[in-house]
Amino acid sequence: MTEAQIAECPPLLFFDTGVGGLSVLRETIKLLPHAPIVYAADYAGLPYGMKSEAELAARVPALLGRLVERYKPILATIACNTASTIALDHVRSALNIPVVGTVPAIKPASMLTKTGVIGLLGTRATIRQPYVDRLAADFASNKILLRHAAPDLVYAAEAKLRGEKPDPRVIREAMEGLMDQPDGGQIDTVILACTHFPLLRDELSEAAQRPVQFIDGAAGIARRIAYLTKEISWPAAGREGIFVTTGALDDIEPYRPTIAQYGIKRFETL
Ligand code: DGL
Repeated sequence: MTEAQIAECPPLLFFDTGVGGLSVLRETIKLLPHAPIVYAADYAGLPYGMKSEAELAARVPALLGRLVERYKPILATIACNTASTIALDHVRSALNIPVVGTVPAIKPASMLTKTGVIGLLGTRATIRQPYVDRLAADFASNKILLRHAAPDLVYAAEAKLRGEKPDPRVIREAMEGLMDQPDGGQIDTVILACTHFPLLRDELSEAAQRPVQFIDGAAGIARRIAYLTKEISWPAAGREGIFVTTGALDDIEPYRPTIAQYGIKRFETL
C-alpha cells in the first residue's frame, strides 16, 4: 500500500500472535469485502498464552503503536483473546483510533446453553484473567463455567494453516481435559476463547464425546467493526492486503497459500 493509498482509504488493522486472527478477519471480510486490510502477526512473541501479564501489558501496546504509526489504520482489532483480556485498556489509552478487542463469548454462550454448564477453552493466560471472572459474574452467574487451558491447540491450528494435518492427540486431549472435569459431562456449549481455535472447529467437534455447540466471538466482532466504520466508503475496485510479521519472512512461506485466500499477497516485516 503506498502512502497515497493509505491516506485515501486507511486500512483496518488486525493483530494476533500468528494466524489465529484470520478467524476474525474471515467474518469481517464477509461484511466488508472491499476494506483494505493490514494483518499483523507477532510471531516473535508467540505464544502469548505462556507469557506474563506484565510482559504482555508492555509488549502489545508498544507493537500496536508502531503498527499504527506505519500503516495509519482507521481502526485496530486485537484479534487475540490473550492480548485483549490483558492489554485492551493499555492499548486503548495508547492509541488515538478505535480499538476493538476479542474477549471470550461468555454472554452468548450463557444465552445458548440448555444444561447451564458451559465449557471454555483458552490459553493458560486467558483462563486465569480477572476479565474472564468479570464476564462470568456479569453474564453467567447462574451457570457453571468450566475452564480448560489448551495451549497446544495454538500449534495445531498453525500447523493446519501451513497445510499440515493437526495432531489428533492434541485435539482429543483438549476436549477430554475440558469434558472430564466434574460436571463436564453436562457441558452442551463450548466457548472457543482463543482465536486460533475456531480454525479447528471441525476437528474439535469430531473429538467431542457427544454433540456440543461451539461458539466464538468472531461474527459479533465483525459486526462491531462494520458498525464503527459505517461512514467509510471503501474502494469499490477490490482491496489490497498486507501481512506483516515480527518474525522472519521465510517462516511465513508455508502459510502463503492460506493467507492468499484472504486477498493478502504482500508480506512485510515490522
Ligand atoms: N490467538 C491467541 C488468542 O486468541 C493466542 C495464541 C498464543 O498463545 O499466542 O488467545
